[in-house]
Amino acid sequence: MTREFFPSASSVACEPSARPQSIEADAIVVFLAEGGVGTGAAAEIDAATGGLLARLAAAGEITGRRYECVPILAAQGLRAGQLIVVGIGKREQLDAGVLYRAAAAAARHLAGRPRSRVAFVADGSWTTRQVEQAVAGAAVGMVGQDFYRAEPKRTRFGTTIWVSAPVETVERGTVIADGVNLARRLVNMAPDDIYPQSFSEECATIAGRTGLDIEIWDEDRLVSERCNGMLAVGRGSVRSPRLVILRYRGAGRTGRQSPAADEAPDLAFVGKGVTFDSGGLSLKPSDGMLTMKCDMSGAAAVLGAMATVAALRLPINIVGGIGLAENMTGPAAYKLGDVITARNGTTIEVHNTDAEGRIVLADVLDVIRGFKPGRIIDLATLTGACVVALGQDVAGLFTNDQPCCDALAAAARAVGEPVWQLPMYPDYDEQIKSEVADIKNVGDGRWGGAITAAKFLERFVGGIPWTHVDIAGPAFSEKSRPWTDGGATGSMVRPLVELARGGD
Ligand code: BES
Ligand code: MN
Ligand code: ZN
Repeated sequence: MTREFFPSASSVACEPSARPQSIEADAIVVFLAEGGVGTGAAAEIDAATGGLLARLAAAGEITGRRYECVPILAAQGLRAGQLIVVGIGKREQLDAGVLYRAAAAAARHLAGRPRSRVAFVADGSWTTRQVEQAVAGAAVGMVGQDFYRAEPKRTRFGTTIWVSAPVETVERGTVIADGVNLARRLVNMAPDDIYPQSFSEECATIAGRTGLDIEIWDEDRLVSERCNGMLAVGRGSVRSPRLVILRYRGAGRTGRQSPAADEAPDLAFVGKGVTFDSGGLSLKPSDGMLTMKCDMSGAAAVLGAMATVAALRLPINIVGGIGLAENMTGPAAYKLGDVITARNGTTIEVHNTDAEGRIVLADVLDVIRGFKPGRIIDLATLTGACVVALGQDVAGLFTNDQPCCDALAAAARAVGEPVWQLPMYPDYDEQIKSEVADIKNVGDGRWGGAITAAKFLERFVGGIPWTHVDIAGPAFSEKSRPWTDGGATGSMVRPLVELARGGD
């Protein structure tokens, strides 16, 4: 499999049937559960090293607790320079998400210095999904955010070797990591470098490499398409908005009829791409504004997921819609009390220019609705209220169609990203009614703000089965964690790819 959209990535090799003790590498990583070496790969390393792991565990030097990384230098019986024992917690709680983070933690630890060869040992008891997500985690963990630093904090390994893992699984995990790392790179870039036009150019580059069809609507096209919501939000900035439409057609590849160009896609991904959110005239305080380069994380997730889906050649048709705008306070900025006629004809009274994401998405959802997709998933760093409700690690789900939401939640669970559904009671819809227009862009008061925002979006999906994912919490982590350097997380890329696979 070619690494189409990440040419600078480090290389990956497979040793499906080699013994860990025969691997020559700078370091070899083994995963250890709580409660001793057990019977799998850790036991094999323990035997090869004359019972070293069991002795260290008995002495309490290694515990197997989640994401603990213990380096053991010059272990007798191994040909690798050092052994890293990474904890995966309780055996009965092991899942793909734990393995993703554990592999990432070990890789992050080792990537603190240049390494030419690093081996990871998969355990024979893991499922294919678990192996794949561990592979992805290792490739994500070795990448930090170093674009603006003279001395990088993380250096990618020259070669990553996976022992006891099937080649195809390793390839898939690696391509998934490329999608996550692509989304992270775009989100971590400074907002003066990534703005609507430059983001759309990144999309074009990736589309060219992966064979996605792409259309980019500039300001004139947005005017002729009546995308007045996107234009209003973008009007306070010297950088004009863009709308990107990506199309992937893979359904013909597995013997099904090759789709006509105008055939309805199975799935749509829609992303909020506010490349910087100052709040507009409803200006954010400085503290709240600092991380608002992350407000295009939904857009980055759509691009990362679609690039991965294309590289994996999944048998599905997907349309992606990315709404790009910068929310600023320039002389032409949209104002409180303005009434905007969105593309679908709904009039929106502006009560707060900081509730801009839903106005951008209103137009993108309407454009995507026109493709008549079977289901729509939108991703957005939409509300602080969702972070208040669920914390920083959990994405909020909102839906007009329970099976659609259940499928996404199952996909997220399969790869270990936490999500939680919030209710869409009709009463919340009452709260966005306006005295002067069809709707207003905030609820009555601040309570339930994540739900009133979702209710606003629901008005633009035209009854198509739809799930909204509020990633304001998980998209960006101000501080580092054992498995990731602070900054963008690549949230929701893996669940979207998993959803596109349809549980194969
Ligand atoms: N981009 C923000 C939401 C956000 C907050 C994302 C924190 C990531 C971290 C969004 O545009 C916003 O400003 N929402 C307002 C809505 C309010 C004015 C109704 C909010 O949450 O305060
Ligand atoms: Mn805002
Ligand atoms: Zn925003």
